[in-house]
Amino acid sequence: MSNPFKPTAGATPPLLVGRQPVLDAFQESIEDGPGSPYLLQLMTGARGVGKTVMLNELGEVAQANGWVVIHVTAGPGMLERIAQRARVRRQELGAVDRGHGATTWSVTTPLGGVSRQSPSPEAESWPWVDEVAALLDVLAAHQTGVCITVDEIHSLDVEQMQTLAGDIQMLIRESRPIALIMAGLPRAVEELLAGESRPTTFLRRAERPVLRDVPVSEVADSFLQIVTDAGRSLSDELAMVCARATNGYPFMIQLVGYHTWRQGRTGPITAEHVTAGVAAARARLGALVHEPALADLSEVDRTFLVKMAQDDGASRLADIAARMGKTSQYAGVYRDRLLKAGMIQAAGYGLVDFDAPYLREYLREHAAHLMADRHTRHTRSDEGGPG
Ligand SMILES: Nc1ncnc2c1ncn2[C@@H]1O[C@H](COP(=O)(O)OP(=O)(O)OP(=O)(O)O)[C@@H](O)[C@H]1O
Ligand SMILES: [Mg+2]
Repeated sequence: MSNPFKPTAGATPPLLVGRQPVLDAFQESIEDGPGSPYLLQLMTGARGVGKTVMLNELGEVAQANGWVVIHVTAGPGMLERIAQRARVRRQELGAVDRGHGATTWSVTTPLGGVSRQSPSPEAESWPWVDEVAALLDVLAAHQTGVCITVDEIHSLDVEQMQTLAGDIQMLIRESRPIALIMAGLPRAVEELLAGESRPTTFLRRAERPVLRDVPVSEVADSFLQIVTDAGRSLSDELAMVCARATNGYPFMIQLVGYHTWRQGRTGPITAEHVTAGVAAARARLGALVHEPALADLSEVDRTFLVKMAQDDGASRLADIAARMGKTSQYAGVYRDRLLKAGMIQAAGYGLVDFDAPYLREYLREHAAHLMADRHTRHTRSDEGGPG
C-alpha cells in the first residue's frame, strides 16, 4: 500500500487541513469579478506552514473557474518568466480559437496610450504586463482571467516589486480580471512593505491572510480519514495522539503521518507504530526544517537562539543578553535579524518566542554544536551529519 502522506516542501497534502475559509474567500472573489478583495493577496506564514501548498491550491481554484494560472517564484528574471508563460498560453489559446474559427489572434491592445500591432507568435516578446494584457484580451472571449502566484515574495528585489505592483495596479484600474497572490515569510514581507514608494502603498492594501497552525482536532479527523481512505485503520485515541504530536504544524502533520504509516505498511496502525512514528517524525523535522534554517544563520544568531531555548516559554531580551554576556542593545540587533529570518516571533513587549514547533527542544539537544565559541572552533562538526 502506498504511503498517502507527503512530507515534502510544496507537495500537495492528501488532505488540506484547516484552509477552507481561504479557498472560499478566493472563489467568492473570482465570482464577484474585478475589484474584489481576495484577487489581490499577500499571504504570510512561518516556514512549513503551507504557503507554497496554498498558492497551488488557490491556483487550482482559479483553474477550476477556467482562469489561466501562472506560478512563479520570486528572483532574478521573474517578470520575464511571467511574460514567457503568458505568451505561451496565449499562443496555445489562439491556436485553439483559430481551430474554432474565432478571431482572437488579431486583437489590438491599446495600453498606456499606445496602440499595438497584431501580435504574431514569432514576434519578439513584450514587457511582461503587455503579455499579460494580451492574454487577458484573448481570455475575454471566454469570460475568464489570469491568476499569477508569486512564492517567496520576500526575495523579490525592489525594482521588480515596484514594476509588478505598478503594473498590476494599472490592470486592476482597467477592471481586468486579474488575480495576484503572493506569499512570503512574515517579517521579511513587513520590511518589504515598509518602504515609502507608491507601489508598496498599493500592495499594503492587499488582503493579508496569515497562515497559522491548524486546529489539532481537525488534524485528528484528517488522520482518521486519510488512513481509512487508504485502506488501513486507526483508533480515535491514536489519531488524537498523532494529532497532538503535530501541534497543528502542517509540515509535522505530513511527517507524523508518513513515519507512523511506514512502521507497518499494512493492517491496523498500533500504539507501537504511533510511538515510533512520532519519534521518527521529530527527528526528521530537526533534519529537514531546523538544521537547514540554522545553517543559514551566523554563529551569533545561533548562540542567541540557544540561550533563548533555556526558557520554557517566551524569553525576555534582557535575559538573553545577560546569558550571552552582552548588552540588550547588542542582543537587539540579533533579535531583529532572527525576526526577519522567521526563526522567532514577538510575544508581547520585550518578549520573543520560537516560531517553529520543537525548535526549542532541538536547540537544547544540539546546543554544543550550534553556539559561537571562539576558543573551540573545531567543536562544530558539520561534516559529522545529524545525530
Ligand atoms: N493545510 C495543510 N494540511 C496538511 N498538510 C499541509 C497543509 N499545508 C501544508 N501541508 C504540508 O506541509 C508541508 C510544507 O508545506 P509548504 O511547502 O507549502 O510550506 P511553506 O510554508 O511553503 O514552507 P517554506 O516557508 O519552507 O517555503 C508539505 O509537506 C505539505 O504537504
Ligand atoms: Mg514554500
